[in-house]
Amino acid sequence: MRILKTITETREELAKFKNKSIGLVPTMGFFHEGHLSLMKQARQECDIVVVSLFVNPTQFGQGEDFEQYPRDELRDAELAQSNGVDYIFQPSVKEMYQESFNTAVVLGRTLTDKMCGSSRPGHFQGVATVVTKLFNIIQPEKAYFGQKDAQQLVVIKSFVRDLNLPIEIIGMPIIREEDGLAKSSRNIYLSHKEREQALGLYRALCLGEDLIQGGLLNRSELIGRVKDFLLNQPGLEVDYFEAVQAEDLSAPDILKGKIIIAGAVRAGSTRLIDNILVEV
Ligand code: PAF
Repeated sequence: MRILKTITETREELAKFKNKSIGLVPTMGFFHEGHLSLMKQARQECDIVVVSLFVNPTQFGQGEDFEQYPRDELRDAELAQSNGVDYIFQPSVKEMYQESFNTAVVLGRTLTDKMCGSSRPGHFQGVATVVTKLFNIIQPEKAYFGQKDAQQLVVIKSFVRDLNLPIEIIGMPIIREEDGLAKSSRNIYLSHKEREQALGLYRALCLGEDLIQGGLLNRSELIGRVKDFLLNQPGLEVDYFEAVQAEDLSAPDILKGKIIIAGAVRAGSTRLIDNILVEV
């Protein structure tokens, strides 16, 4: 496995593989089993596997955790290597955003004026911009993203379709701890007590899933019932709870087909997100 730090070096190296399929796993590092599942899937489906490791400043708002975001590049390199990755693309912030950088991928509001988009203004523009840059630099055939960031996945699929980028976007299931907590790089911030309290979000999502499976498809009633439960979970500050159509995040009065129920909470100072896909 090689670690590539510059765009020029990466382009030159990957140009050798013109007739091979390249799979890209975009990450911000501090790998957990969720990331590893993306690498394993890419390894199975592509000739060359590239993982990008870049904590992207443009997707963090003021006062968010860009500076503190957990980093462990040595451990990440070992894990990537043992999961069959061929290259890590690990640019510096300067390499990705030269001083004169002055461009952004602007997204329509229908996918971004809700859920994480309303609590983190500018976040998805930062994601779309860096992911577009990564796609241009690596030119993968397939790119792998976790379903945990459900809104991100819908946004990425949508701009890839709108901009006719020849890349297949593959969403992979959420990997959970034994008790249900979704694996996340940010779980490292949680104290023992907060770790216990964080489970309240998963429990709320399970309640939502049960209610839907039991026939409650009236969206506002569903949201009301689950939010009441979530608001009563000790130690959690609720950012949002939503139930939307999985394909386009629309919010009809009566839900149908594939539904995403999703929430974001704060446990202490850590913001956590999670979701469950339900099909009726
Ligand atoms: O999901 C993430 O880790 C990031 O948002 C991504 C897609 C790597 C872009 O920085």
